Amino acid sequence: DSPLREHAEARGKFIGAALATGPLASESAYRDIAGGEFNQITAENAMKWTDTEPSPNQFTWAGADAIVDFATQNDQQVHGHTLVWHNQTPDWVQSLGADAMRAAMQNHIAKVVGRYASNPTVVSWDVVNEVFDDNGTMRTSFWYQKLGESYIADAFRAARAADPDARLCINDYNVEGVNAKSTAMYNLVRSLRAADVPVDCVGFQGHLAIQYGFPGQVQENLQRFADLGVQVRFTEIDIRMQTPRDATKDALQATYYTNVVKACLAVPQCAGITLWGFTDRYSWVPDTFSGQGAALIYDENYAAKPAYTAVHDAL
Ligand code: XIL
Repeated sequence: DSPLREHAEARGKFIGAALATGPLASESAYRDIAGGEFNQITAENAMKWTDTEPSPNQFTWAGADAIVDFATQNDQQVHGHTLVWHNQTPDWVQSLGADAMRAAMQNHIAKVVGRYASNPTVVSWDVVNEVFDDNGTMRTSFWYQKLGESYIADAFRAARAADPDARLCINDYNVEGVNAKSTAMYNLVRSLRAADVPVDCVGFQGHLAIQYGFPGQVQENLQRFADLGVQVRFTEIDIRMQTPRDATKDALQATYYTNVVKACLAVPQCAGITLWGFTDRYSWVPDTFSGQGAALIYDENYAAKPAYTAVHDAL
């Protein structure tokens, strides 16, 4: 009956979803749930580099602005996603030499963050995304190969300069529990902050799968980051299964959603939880993980699943 956002607000947390511009423009059922249930929005794709700066210093804002306008109308905050990533970045960036690549990165951050710096709807950014490999070494992306690790500090400093009030996050996947990758993230955040690099927040994507088990020590992991002085948040939660779904898998999935919400509630510095979509009608999972899907809290026809009830009851 009462929307998720009411319960989250009462707890001092956000509950959010990533939105896609297509259904946002064309489907009222999508808009009604997106606007009614959530108090936080992330653009699923519309703020990525390919969308915002497809050619050098030529910016296109239609998608990003549509997301921000929707959020403003619905009294929601927007988390900007994402400034520096190895995916969905145009070829022209990837083929630059080191000095030009660094300059392009700084210009991109200045323009994208700068566009919304005085807009109270946009409150935070994923400055860098997925800088690690799963074993905890640096990902050898084109950023790393051309610029070395210094691109990370440079990106955060550029974002701070573009909007001194925005909360600046580093974001990754498979870092929800305590493991080699999350420990590498922990060490990086600690050393960046020791060097006065403006890292305010750590995002834990949370692309989970019921067949792999729930990660170990999630609350302890959030807490160790919080103890460094950063805010923490779940940024891209979806919990996939091998399709087709059935009642047993739905029930197990619901317990995973409960665990995620409870871990955030247990850590005061956990700001909230963003789901990577909200309906199985629109989800990246079936396109990315063969034979898997049904990862979200509403089914393809916008009916609430057991996972919805789990989030509702845990909040
Ligand atoms: C995904 C989107 O959901 C897809 O629509 C797109 O084709 C590829 O990117 N980690 C991230 C997100 O940080 O930006 C990704 O989103 C999912 C994995």
